[in-house]
Amino acid sequence: MSESTAIAPDRNLALELVRVTEAAAIAGGRWVGAGDKNRADGAAVDAMRSFMDSVRMNGTVVIGEGEKDEAPMLFNGEKVGDGTGPDVDVAVDPIDGTRLTALGYNNALSVFAVAEKGSMFDPSAVFYMEKMVVGPEAADFVDLRLPVKQNIHLVAKALDKPVHQVNVCVLERPRHEQLVREIREAGARVKFIMDGDVAGAIAAARGTGVDMLLGTGGTPEGIVAACAIKATGGMIQGRLAPTDEAEKQKALDAGLDLEAVLTTGDLVRSDNCYFAATGITDGELLRGVRYEGRRIITESIVMRSTSGTVRTVEAEHQPEKWSRWLDH
Ligand code: FBP
Repeated sequence: MSESTAIAPDRNLALELVRVTEAAAIAGGRWVGAGDKNRADGAAVDAMRSFMDSVRMNGTVVIGEGEKDEAPMLFNGEKVGDGTGPDVDVAVDPIDGTRLTALGYNNALSVFAVAEKGSMFDPSAVFYMEKMVVGPEAADFVDLRLPVKQNIHLVAKALDKPVHQVNVCVLERPRHEQLVREIREAGARVKFIMDGDVAGAIAAARGTGVDMLLGTGGTPEGIVAACAIKATGGMIQGRLAPTDEAEKQKALDAGLDLEAVLTTGDLVRSDNCYFAATGITDGELLRGVRYEGRRIITESIVMRSTSGTVRTVEAEHQPEKWSRWLDH
């Protein structure tokens, strides 16, 4: 057995991870409003990679930026960390909300999650997942298999408030027309987000601004959100939603059950997981990267499931240390 296999991720890892998302947010934040998604994403990936390699972990990216050939950076299967620490699965999303960043809209985040090796769900090739997220009060009552109206009424009952005060966060997409109709017919309110359903999921789990998240979004983002939800409480349920026959067949060949409702615990089996996020643009969860005089200020959140601790970290950075990412 190598030295690393005997070590479980410990509490110190949490704060090391914040440095990684801070770096990605500062580098990606350089391109806020510049209208260039790829440039923002490239900078965030580059910074995330540089900082990740100093983290004391023996990590493998299992939720990354795609297959090696498609995305040469932070690809699935890539080894990350300094190799000396615990064996862990790593999920990265250097920018959740690349379009938000490029257009200067709210709610773009840099996110990073770590869990014990082999514990994160492998979605095979299925990029989309139907999702439902609620806070701890409603977690034991709702079920993705129930009609939308029934789930909304269960949430209202659990929160002891009228249905017209239930706020449901939904990605604004044509595919959600029917869902939006059903939410409104049930009497609840829709709060659209343009992108970034990791932040939406955390908001729903924590009950900050919204009470529920519904709709189809990225499977990787669902797994990352599950790591956070393990710490905040609440729950996510998901059902894989392949977009074509080829994707469906690949998933079936990989032994996935396309009818199954995946719970928080299915998406990340370990109870020892970590989640860190830093705001790139302002949002309800976190403020974005700010430039004040000779300082760069970031706001981050870091969570550890074992303790359930959620820390908000405000940090000041010296611009000259970041010239590699800022001076061009
Ligand atoms: P990216 O920033 O990585 O493009 O993801 C943004 C996002 O809105 C996710 O939060 C969400 O899960 C996914 O895209 C939804 O996919 P689509 O934009 O194809 O509907």
